[in-house]
Amino acid sequence: MLIDQFGRKVTYLRVSVTERCNFRCRYCMAEKPFSWVPKENLLSYEELFAFIKIAIDSGITKIRLTGGEPTTRENLDELIAMIHTYSPQTDIGLTTNGFLLPAIAAKLQQAGLKRINVSLDSLDPDIARYIAQKEILEQVLRGIDAALNVGLKVKINSVILKNINEHEIVQLFEFARSHGAQIRYIEYMENSFAHNGIKGLTSQEILDVLKNHIDFAPIPKEEGGPANLYETHDGYRFGTIEPHRHDFCSTCDRLRLTAEGDLIGCLYFEGSKSIKEAIRHENILKAKEILEEVILNKPEKNLWGSEEFSISNRAFYETGG
Ligand code: 5AD
Ligand code: SF4
Repeated sequence: MLIDQFGRKVTYLRVSVTERCNFRCRYCMAEKPFSWVPKENLLSYEELFAFIKIAIDSGITKIRLTGGEPTTRENLDELIAMIHTYSPQTDIGLTTNGFLLPAIAAKLQQAGLKRINVSLDSLDPDIARYIAQKEILEQVLRGIDAALNVGLKVKINSVILKNINEHEIVQLFEFARSHGAQIRYIEYMENSFAHNGIKGLTSQEILDVLKNHIDFAPIPKEEGGPANLYETHDGYRFGTIEPHRHDFCSTCDRLRLTAEGDLIGCLYFEGSKSIKEAIRHENILKAKEILEEVILNKPEKNLWGSEEFSISNRAFYETGG
């Protein structure tokens, strides 16, 4: 069991398998050219799996693969199969932009994947292209269909931006509802990589728009989950994620591993500790020691809004958000 100094049980590991992405979303990636981490610096699937085994043996029950865009790393189904074969009861999820799902949804599901979260910010091809800086919509929609067809549970993540897609709040809601997928509106998180001038809508602003469309009421949060949840009269559930608040920190159950092997206790702190050397030397004891140390030092709450911290300098495409 992994317990931090504030008594929080850590059961959820997010693993970024690559920081590369096939999109260039304006709220996530820098405008100016930058270079990716060389591939040899990344942990191999065998190395990631070696750490994941330690984490599962220590009490992790839920794993989410993230990026960058995790599906851009070749043969992602192999890593899923390794985890699933080792521990069939571990709940494996994936966060993706959906673009490659038409080709691989079936393989991922067969390997043991249970659930995916797909980013969908617009149903208008021009706006989707503007945000991601690539022609994406038709293929992402086919990806969502492919995932649903093979029986994956799908959630939709939408970031609502002022003057860009704010008029699509209701359309996105109805799209998700008609596909039996929970939509979560994620508040835009300021970060030093996003393009200038981007402004997000607050959850309250989004809820106000939805209130004019449909009746709904708040319901209790899922355990450990960051989303505030709501339910319509006919039982459709949706959520908002408000990263600027820290009322979810007291129940935070998560830990992150980057593709380069850095373990991160809290997304909003610069601190991290590498497990790469320990794993490359097959030093399981050392890797476990680092895991326990990072958990012990997991910060009590994030620093959003404080003077030290009002903008993230860590790229979300490195840490998987
Ligand atoms: N603010 C809010 N959400 C973001 N995402 C990526 N960058 C940001 C940001 N700066 C979202 C993506 C995806 C999820 C993993 O995080 O849209 O849905
Ligand atoms: Fe890629 Fe996701 Fe960042 Fe968009 S938000 S550029 S899909 S990592």
